[in-house]
Amino acid sequence: MQHAIPKGTFDILPRDPDEAWRESHLWQDVEKTIREICKVYGFREIRTPIFERTELFVRGVGEGSDIVSKEMYTFQDKGGRSLTLRPEGTASVMRAFIEKHMDQQGGLHKFFYVGPMFRYERPQAGRYRQHHQFGVESIGSALPESDVEVIALLLEFYNSLGLKNLNVLLNSVGNEETRTRFREALRSFLEPKRMLLSADSQMRLEKNVLRILDSKDPQDQELLQGAPSLLEMLHPADRDHFERVQLLLHRLHISFEVQPKLVRGLDYYNRTVFEITSGDLGAHNAVGGGGRYDGLLSLLGGPNLPAIGFGTGLERIIQTMLKQQISLPEKIAPLLFFIPIGEKAKEYCFALVFQLRRQRIPVEIDFHVKRVGHSLQLAEVLGAHYSLVLGEEELLSGQIKLKEMQTRREISLSLDQLSIFLGENLALRLQ
Ligand code: HAM
Repeated sequence: MQHAIPKGTFDILPRDPDEAWRESHLWQDVEKTIREICKVYGFREIRTPIFERTELFVRGVGEGSDIVSKEMYTFQDKGGRSLTLRPEGTASVMRAFIEKHMDQQGGLHKFFYVGPMFRYERPQAGRYRQHHQFGVESIGSALPESDVEVIALLLEFYNSLGLKNLNVLLNSVGNEETRTRFREALRSFLEPKRMLLSADSQMRLEKNVLRILDSKDPQDQELLQGAPSLLEMLHPADRDHFERVQLLLHRLHISFEVQPKLVRGLDYYNRTVFEITSGDLGAHNAVGGGGRYDGLLSLLGGPNLPAIGFGTGLERIIQTMLKQQISLPEKIAPLLFFIPIGEKAKEYCFALVFQLRRQRIPVEIDFHVKRVGHSLQLAEVLGAHYSLVLGEEELLSGQIKLKEMQTRREISLSLDQLSIFLGENLALRLQ
């Protein structure tokens, strides 16, 4: 029986001729950039378990959200506990923060994480059942400066990768009291048109009326013309906050668009929410999104501290990079590929290969040389920069010829100089 990968998941491979975005060197490069940027912005890594008690997400993400109502991978372990594969990272970070009393440790509470998230969604281009997120959570400041710090970090990350044509959509969802009033106003507005709404939106009318605002159905969008506006109902303090966020974004020369219908799919948000979309992705065009969630820590039994963060999907980022034909990092390839001829040469090369690797010079060796032509082909497939055919003659004379794979040029040097040559060559390449 053949085993197939579960629906909605994918392998990340050294080479994938069908889907270049699944090649591991691209993922490594994006992850490297994440770590560099987070270091500069003072966000430190947190790693939480892949699964948590189900209750955490039900409370944290919200019972009415799509994630909790239909997308969670929930199971019972052998001890009869209900556990859930994490559908997102924020609730887990809050749980760790509360459990370890991190508020009493002093300092700033700025965290980042990278890892897989699980949602039972209908798989489509750009939508997976296991996707990977880079997220940050900044806990402890209610100031607009903190909102802007998080948004600026996200955009700097995209810029460093070379992403272009991104839209920054911004909104404020105010406070709980405003949202309750707004929900009622929106429900009263839509109730008379109930039968004209899409089936999904009809269901949301009771359960999660705010989500009707970002319905993709064109008729729903038409019916929403003239609907009450959340922005116009904001409490003055929330309005001031929102205006200051916009002012600070202008100061950093960050362009954005206020999108009054942006509400996002998780229940914990208040005040600022944002989403970054790419015109180069299909229907699922949100590359990243986030917002403020000042009430979540206390809702989960922790201290009453404000917080803000974002999550951004690595699949969509790498797909956008490829669509935009951004210059991509080079594949991982050996600098030199050894082709030893005969037992003596093999023994010699074997020792030399490990010596070079100890010097952190990436080299490869063919243990199974049958025909030189065949080994050269292998060197080419691996993308080696140089190859070296080394037999008894070379061992006796101490003179070797490296072949530059791309140009077929030959470089003569003595065997003693090899490690210096490679070391200098590598340093040049890394510049
Ligand atoms: P989210 O908008 O649900 O937010 O997800 C963040 C990003 O993850 C999305 O913008 C998208 O790029 C990616 N994503 C989500 N679901 C999928 C999927 N099924 N397939 C592929 N990519 C996907 C959150 O998860 C919040 N925790 C973000 C946050 C952090 N808010 C505050 N702090």
